[in-house]
Amino acid sequence: MKQTAVTPETEQQLFFHNYARLPIAVSHGEGVWLYSNDGTRYLDMISGIGVNALGYGDERLVRAISLQAAKLIHASNLFMIRPQFELAEKLLSLSGLSKVFFANSGAEAIEASIKIARKWAALSGNPDKKEVLSLSNCFHGRTYGAMSLTAKAKYVDGFEPLLPATGMISFNDIKDLEKQVSRNTAAVFIEAVQGEGGIHLISQEFIVKLRELREQYGFLIVADEIQAGCGRTGKFFSYMHVDADPDLVCLAKPLGGGLPLSAVLGSEKVADVLSFGNHGTTFGGNPVACAAGLALIEAIENDNLMEHADSMGKFLAEELRKIASRHSQIIEIRQCGLMIGITVHKEAKYYVEKALGKHVVVNATSQNVIRLLPPLNISREEAQLCIEALDEIFTEETGEKAG
Ligand SMILES: Cc1ncc(COP(=O)(O)O)c(C=O)c1O
Repeated sequence: MKQTAVTPETEQQLFFHNYARLPIAVSHGEGVWLYSNDGTRYLDMISGIGVNALGYGDERLVRAISLQAAKLIHASNLFMIRPQFELAEKLLSLSGLSKVFFANSGAEAIEASIKIARKWAALSGNPDKKEVLSLSNCFHGRTYGAMSLTAKAKYVDGFEPLLPATGMISFNDIKDLEKQVSRNTAAVFIEAVQGEGGIHLISQEFIVKLRELREQYGFLIVADEIQAGCGRTGKFFSYMHVDADPDLVCLAKPLGGGLPLSAVLGSEKVADVLSFGNHGTTFGGNPVACAAGLALIEAIENDNLMEHADSMGKFLAEELRKIASRHSQIIEIRQCGLMIGITVHKEAKYYVEKALGKHVVVNATSQNVIRLLPPLNISREEAQLCIEALDEIFTEETGEKAG
């Protein structure tokens, strides 16, 4: 049988051109290391865009997935399925929230949250309470509702009209927040740590004001934890760093241990908003993905990976700041746990290519930010390898001396 060529040329022929795939055909992974078909190994500092929290090939995940797959791969939400119940219980105990809805992707969790918020607002008796707001520079996904909240030219141009009654508050701008929210606001979506936006941390003052205004106007706070959640920032939910007290929480990316799974968690306030048939999805809460999610959370807890993410993040940031002090190409290092952004003067894509040349995978976001989202169990030695590679790249670029 003819073998399909996995090359940039066939990629162009086969697929819509919506991804900028790296020119590497990957075969397997082990820990933080990703292997290409030709046997080259890469230090993967982006871990499947923040999905592979345990790195590649964690045996506990593989075992949980295999056991559940042998028992039941899919049955649908016509039935009660144990791994779904167990994961729901675990997520509620971690968050202190009341209800769970499972879906398959981050954007779907955002869509569900928009629907819950709008329906909750409709039940409030104020017919004008429909407005859903987000923060500038945010990213919530690419479906229509999520894209309407994301509203950056790059994501929305050509796709208008967007969802009506959506708007944007300037990030961390308390005056703008006060100006924009009103009794017609149904929900404000936040990322406590903006990921795609280039690793920006929400301020405590902004959250204090947001909570105060929620008391005044009665809207929902929705925390998008899709990238920052599940322990990546050193706490299970990144909103815990600023005590955002959300009414709805969206989780995805690492939640299914690499399988598609997302969740919306809701407070008592919204517990009875959805009624039968209001919302649903065929694959949501897939038993294999839920079993993987349980194994993931168990591993995070057993291996103290939140503490580890916190200390590795601090280590990486400290070392990167040393590099920044020697290399004028770096503007700033921003970090929260293992979400790290290195702002540079030129397009970050340039450094992604250079790093690849040194067999290190980093990612570019927000034009001039090099983003690192390594697995939560990265070792100090592995983190050091990344630091050395970046130091070399900045040194080679200008001929400055490596430290
Ligand atoms: C904060 C945040 N929200 C939502 C999404 C969308 O998730 P998905 O790509 O699974 O739809 C992402 C994806 O990068 C994200 O980082």
